Amino acid sequence: MTDRKPRVLATRHFPPDVESRLAGSFDAVLNLEDRLYDGPALIKAAEGCDGIMCAAGDPLNADTVGKLPASVRMIATFSVGYEHVDVAAAARRKILVSNTPDVLTDATADIAMLCLLGAARRAHEGTTMLRTHSWVGWTPTQLMGVHVTGKRLGILGMGRIGQALADRARAFRMTIHYSNRTRLKPDLEKGAIFHANPDDILPHCDFLSINAPMTPETHKWVNAARLAKLPKGAIVVNTARGGVVDDEALIAALKSGHLASAGIDVFDGEPKIHAGYYGLQNAFLLPHMGSATVETRNAMGFKALDNLEAFLLKGLEPPDLVKV
Ligand code: 8YV
Repeated sequence: MTDRKPRVLATRHFPPDVESRLAGSFDAVLNLEDRLYDGPALIKAAEGCDGIMCAAGDPLNADTVGKLPASVRMIATFSVGYEHVDVAAAARRKILVSNTPDVLTDATADIAMLCLLGAARRAHEGTTMLRTHSWVGWTPTQLMGVHVTGKRLGILGMGRIGQALADRARAFRMTIHYSNRTRLKPDLEKGAIFHANPDDILPHCDFLSINAPMTPETHKWVNAARLAKLPKGAIVVNTARGGVVDDEALIAALKSGHLASAGIDVFDGEPKIHAGYYGLQNAFLLPHMGSATVETRNAMGFKALDNLEAFLLKGLEPPDLVKV
């Protein structure tokens, strides 16, 4: 036994309070310039490290995980989504993986509501009109959008964030339809209408919000055939993962007018998003800001650290262990 502190690689430049605690608890290898590591660079940087604190977008695929130095025993991702970490490959290497559930629920549900409202009320066109000095003044027909209060909201994926969005939508007297792997208990369902088959929510959606994780089953789930089942004039909101949507199909539905608009915070291949989005006036677009509040990003970092400290300092099971 040595009394050296375990070494932890931070793949990104994390919030200052998070990096301070990381440096206090561990022999921290920080990335203050926030360079993006590709697989080989990440493997090299992890040399001699016991743990890795990573984030969404890091290439911890089967190839990278398979080649990580033997010293690496744990990967703690600074995110609730963990599709960027090949958990099965990690298990084969006996590397534990943890994530950060719960702490970003409210911030992400807030952004989902912002996307819903921004899309419905033509926020992009309004702010553009103002900032390009094109506003000629109020007119009775200017920028008329879609009414939100009292409308139907379909939620694909009624986990923590989906439920928090439903709570916000209830304040707008929206009727909630949802689909989820398992039906919620009545105290969580709160009158929302469950559809065992996710396709069955589509005809009921004035708004469709994607709140499901990216999995092989949800990959490009929002495709042309499903968009066609939405009522004309519906609005699509995505704050989960870009890969759940077929971009070509969504852009075509926005161009044809089948959809009134979309509110999108997450994109396939981000930050290199499908070029078709840039010219769409009826899309309210944000650069993956769901969890971007100081409080939430600190809480995510502290949760990742709770997990690293439990395992690497105390030999305990990480509280947010991702099971294969
Ligand atoms: C994070 C997210 O900011 O936690 C997630 O899954 O999508 C985001 O809100 C990001 O992933 C940081 O790694």
